[in-house]
Amino acid sequence: MKIISIGLLIAACGGLSVFAAPAEEQKSVVIVYGSRYGSTARTAEWIAEGMAGKAAVVAAKEAGDLGGYEKVILGSGIYGDMLHADMIAFLEKRREEVKDKLLAVFVVCGMPPDQAGGYLEMFAGKCRAKPLLARAFSGWMKKEILSPEDFQGLEKYYKSVNHPFASYDHTDKAKCLEFGRELLAKICEAK
Ligand SMILES: Cc1cc2nc3c(=O)[nH]c(=O)nc-3n(C[C@H](O)[C@H](O)[C@H](O)COP(=O)(O)O)c2cc1C
Repeated sequence: MKIISIGLLIAACGGLSVFAAPAEEQKSVVIVYGSRYGSTARTAEWIAEGMAGKAAVVAAKEAGDLGGYEKVILGSGIYGDMLHADMIAFLEKRREEVKDKLLAVFVVCGMPPDQAGGYLEMFAGKCRAKPLLARAFSGWMKKEILSPEDFQGLEKYYKSVNHPFASYDHTDKAKCLEFGRELLAKICEAK
């Protein structure tokens, strides 16, 4: 088992794909996310894909024992300038457990990523830790899947800013994969 693990680590850090092997053995990182409508979950999956299978992905509400992971990445959608309720609850309960392992935070939002720095600062502040990397990604908003409350809230908001209330999908898989590769490089640097 040890030999397989070492092989996998070399494979992940050195690109020796000949060692690539069963996914379950190699998860040393966990991505915990809060997502209301799925784009943050999808973003987390794509980031994990960029990390060459080294990261497990779990919803904040379902996160069990994280003791076996060396590093934690936290991701959240943004709603009314706030993190997802499950991420807030997760941090309230488990901040101490994860803050020393925190590798990165990411947000998925409607705001253009280059204007979303405030959300990342707010996220890191709630973690009471300084993640090595922080990144904002664009998500999607699909009118047909919104709850009636969210639909009304967003309709009102868009009206107030005189902007059409229209569905969008601004997700960008390539950017998520790239972030995953950056994270992997950080982990390998630290080894
Ligand atoms: C009710 C609601 C409120 C939102 N408020 C914000 C906001 O304050 N700032 C922002 O940048 N995006 C906002 N958005 C856009 C979401 O952050 C975006 O759709 C994101 O992709 C949602 O992630 P999810 O699909 O994982 O739920 C809001 C979306 C909804 C549905």
